[in-house]
Formats: sequence, C-alpha cells, structure tokens
Amino acid sequence: MKKVFSTRQLPGDAFSRLRKKGYQVQVGSRTSSLLRQVFMSKAKGADALITLLTDRVDGEVMDAVGRQLKVVANYAVGFDNIDLAAAAKRGIRVTNTPGVLAQAVAEHTVALLLSVVRRIPESERFLRKKLYRGWEPELFLGAELAGKTLGLVGHGRVGCRVADILKRGFDMNVLYYDVVRDKKAEGVCGIQYVSFIRLLREADVVSLHVPLFASTRHLISSSQLRTMKKTAYLVNTSRGPIVEERALVSALKKKEIAGAALDVFENEPRLAPGLVQIENAVLTPHTGSATVEARTSMADLVAENVIAVLSGKNPPNLVHL
Ligand code: GLV
Ligand code: GLV
Repeated sequence: MKKVFSTRQLPGDAFSRLRKKGYQVQVGSRTSSLLRQVFMSKAKGADALITLLTDRVDGEVMDAVGRQLKVVANYAVGFDNIDLAAAAKRGIRVTNTPGVLAQAVAEHTVALLLSVVRRIPESERFLRKKLYRGWEPELFLGAELAGKTLGLVGHGRVGCRVADILKRGFDMNVLYYDVVRDKKAEGVCGIQYVSFIRLLREADVVSLHVPLFASTRHLISSSQLRTMKKTAYLVNTSRGPIVEERALVSALKKKEIAGAALDVFENEPRLAPGLVQIENAVLTPHTGSATVEARTSMADLVAENVIAVLSGKNPPNLVHL
C-alpha cells in the first residue's frame, strides 16, 4: 500500500480523496510544526510527502524518508523551503499550488495597502485605548490612492490581480519590473514595464510579488529604500527575506518612507527588533492565502498532484529547477 505522509492536517477533504485511492495517509501533527527529527522518523517509508512552507525539505530529509519517495507536494505556491537540486538528483518530483491562491493573496495585499495608507490599525489602537476625544480636521490623515502610481515588483498571477484591482477599482497607474519583460502580460494586465530603479523612484506604492531565490534575497535593502519617495509605502506579501528587515525598520524610524505593510518576515515567526513598535507598519502573520476558498483549493491541488505522481502520470503543478 502506498504511503502518503502529510506533516500537518489540511482543510477540506483532500485526505479522504487520497484514502479512496487506496493510499495510507498519515498526518504528522494536527496543531503544531513537527520537529525535524520527528518529521524524518515519522515520514520514513513514505511514497509521497505533503509539506508546509515551514518544513525544510533537503537532501537529508529525502534520504531519511527513503528511496521509494516519489513526490514532495508543497502546500504553498512558494517552494523556497525545498531543495530542488537535491530532489532532482534523487528523481523526486516537487509540486506547488499555483493559481488557486492568487485572488486571496491579491485581496490581502489590497487590504494591507488600504490599512497602511488610511492608518486603520493605528487609529483602531487609538480608539481602543480610549484616546478618542471627538472629530478633528487632522486626526489620522492618510493618503489617497487614486491617480497615484503602483510599482509592482514581479508580475505573476498575484501581481497581475493586484494591478487589476488597483487600476480598475482605485484608478492607480501601474508600473512593473521583473527579470523578464513580458509584453503579453503588459497587454493583458495593462501595466507598463520600467527598470527597477525607475520603479523605486516613481512609485507611490511598491508591492513585492517575486519568489524567493538567491537572486531576490534582500532585493529591497537600505539603498533601495533611500531611492523610494519619502511619501511612498512598501507592501510585502511574497516572502520575508526579499526585504532586509533591519534596514526597513531603520528606514521607517528615519521616515525615509511613509509606511510599510508586511505579511511576511525575514525570520518567521520572529520579527526584527523594533518592528512592532513602529506605528506606521501594518503587520499580519503570513495570512495572505488564509481564506477558506484558497486553503481548501490548495489542499485539493496537493491531492491531485500526489495522485498523478503515484499513478505514474505527470503532475499538473510540477516545479522545475
Ligand atoms: C504562501 O506563502 C505560499 O507560498 O503559498
Ligand atoms: C499564486 O496563486 C500564483 O499562482 O502565483
């Protein structure tokens, strides 16, 4: 009997689909992250692994699981937690869950942006502390989005959705930068390609939508933050290490930019020293894709990918090196 090991319980009925296929499904934990040693010993003998973005899956884990391992199905669109070279060397397929979470992440990006420009968490804290004494002409003044420029770094599915919502709903102009210019996407999403430096100089909002690779780590650091307008905002719903967090804390303290909205952090679950004290930073705990719709569809995709590989077919969401 084929064994599927999932490090965590997932929403929806993906596991029952796998069991109906005749696979034995084992769940590592219902509530908390598995320690690496526990993960390696419990997963031994699995033909398929279902992993979270918090599970580091490297050659050592793959070897501990055994030679029968055929697929690592990551319950995330990002796959920086998996050593793709180690998987390729062992003939193990790696899959992710693209597409189904783009809407959820795009909506969260817009929610974060509105929260920071209209200072919503900050004014809510003020109210709950019973500091509200009545209407004032300049109480919590924020910025308006209409007519302003959005600078997208990365124009994948999430970036395109964000562009679409903010162009059509909020009348923003959209610039984008990516490693490859994509003229087709420019037509489809109505966005204009510019160099990274020009994007940083001209954008009123810089929103990050790139995967984490060695080449994108610390893409935003002190010099990029200094290049941005003093009135600009930074939004990150991609991966924490894209931004050098200490540099961001320092830029916010020195008011080099107007504010930041972050769903992801460099060393999750820890935050850089000083970040929680900063009033004009809006922070959420990596919940960009946390809608019932997205998380259920992600589990369904994971099941489809596992079933495909264990039936000797090509999985729909193979990740390439
Ligand atoms: C979430 O961060 C994901 O990569 O799916
Ligand atoms: C997110 O859903 C993506 O497909 O990039």
